[in-house]
Amino acid sequence: MNWFMEFPSWLAPFEPLVPLKSLVEEINTIYHSFDAKNYDAEHLEIRQLWPGLWAEMIQQLPQRNSWRVLDFGCGTGFEAEQLLHHQGSSIHFLMAYDPSREMLARCHGRLGNDPRVNFSDDLVRARAGGPYNLLITNSVLHHLADVEETIYGLQSLLSEDAYWLSGNEPSTRFYKNALCVQLFQHYTAYYERTKWFRPSAYVGKLKSLLGVNSLSATARLAHKRRLFAALPSDTVIARLVDFHVRHLIDADSERGFDLSVMESVFKQHWLLRWSKTYSYLGAFGELSARRTWLNKAHLLQEKFPADGANFCAVWSRPVSN
Ligand SMILES: C[S@@+](CC[C@H](N)C(=O)[O-])C[C@H]1O[C@@H](n2cnc3c(N)ncnc32)[C@H](O)[C@@H]1O
Repeated sequence: MNWFMEFPSWLAPFEPLVPLKSLVEEINTIYHSFDAKNYDAEHLEIRQLWPGLWAEMIQQLPQRNSWRVLDFGCGTGFEAEQLLHHQGSSIHFLMAYDPSREMLARCHGRLGNDPRVNFSDDLVRARAGGPYNLLITNSVLHHLADVEETIYGLQSLLSEDAYWLSGNEPSTRFYKNALCVQLFQHYTAYYERTKWFRPSAYVGKLKSLLGVNSLSATARLAHKRRLFAALPSDTVIARLVDFHVRHLIDADSERGFDLSVMESVFKQHWLLRWSKTYSYLGAFGELSARRTWLNKAHLLQEKFPADGANFCAVWSRPVSN
C-alpha cells in the first residue's frame, strides 16, 4: 500500500509511518492528553461565550422525561455540565466519552459525583449504555479524520428519535464572504503589529522556543512512538490536530465546514432543525478584541447573520418530531 498517496504534501517531509487516519487520531489523542491540564484555563470562550450558545441550543430540544445522552469528545466536561444544568432531572443517563484519558480524568473530576454520569475512553464499551436519544458534541468535528464516517458510525448507538446538539465548529461561509474576509485580514495585520504588546505573546514564544508547549511535546512523543521517521514541526502537529481547519499559511485559507454541505451529506440520518453562526473576526476570538474591532464585527453580524466563522447546530433524526 502506498500510504503517501493519501498524505497532503506538507506531511511528506516528516515521513509519516502510519496511515493518515490513524495519524490524525493518534496525534489528537496525544495532543489533548497534554492540553487537558490547561484546557479550561486557556479557553476564555468556555466561560464567556459557549454557555449562552448551549442554553439556546438546549432550548431547541423537545420536552422529554428521560434523555439518555452520549457526549462524544466530552473533553473536560463543558457541554455535559451545561446539559445537566439546563435539563436537570430529565437527564436519565449520560455517557461521557473521550479517547484522551487525561481529558476524561478532568471530566470525572468535574462531574464524577453525579451518579447519572458515566465515563469511558472506549466507544465499544460506551455502546452498552445505549441506545442514546441525545448526542452532544462541542468543538470536536474539526478534529476528526473522517467526519462522515464517524457520524455514520455513531448511528448504531442512537435511537430512531435521537437529537444531536453540535456546538462550536468552524464555518466556511465566513471565508466566502468578501467583506468578512476583508475584516479578518485587517484584524490579522493589526494583531501581528500589536502582538508584542501582549504578555501572552512572550509566554507563547518562550514556551515554543523551550519546546514546552503541547504542540512540541506532541511532536516529540509522536516521533518517539514511530508515527513519523523525522521529528515533525509544531505547525504540522497543529494542522493534524485541527484537521478540518485550514491554517493561515495555506494559500486557500477557507476554514472548516459548510453547513449546507453537511445537511446534504447527513440527510439520510439527520435533519437540520436550527443553527446559529457567530465570530466575525474569523479565526480570532472576539472576547479579547478591542471595542473598535468588535463594533466592526457586530456590523458584519447584523448584515450577514449566517456568515459567522463558527456555528452551532441542532439536528434531529428525520423521523423525530
Ligand atoms: C477542543 S476539545 C473539546 C472538548 C469538549 N467537548 C469541550 O467543548 O470543552 C476536543 C476534544 O475532542 C476529543 N477528540 C479528538 N479526536 C477525537 C475522536 N476521534 N473521537 C472523539 N473525540 C475526539 C479530544 O480528546 C478533546 O477532548
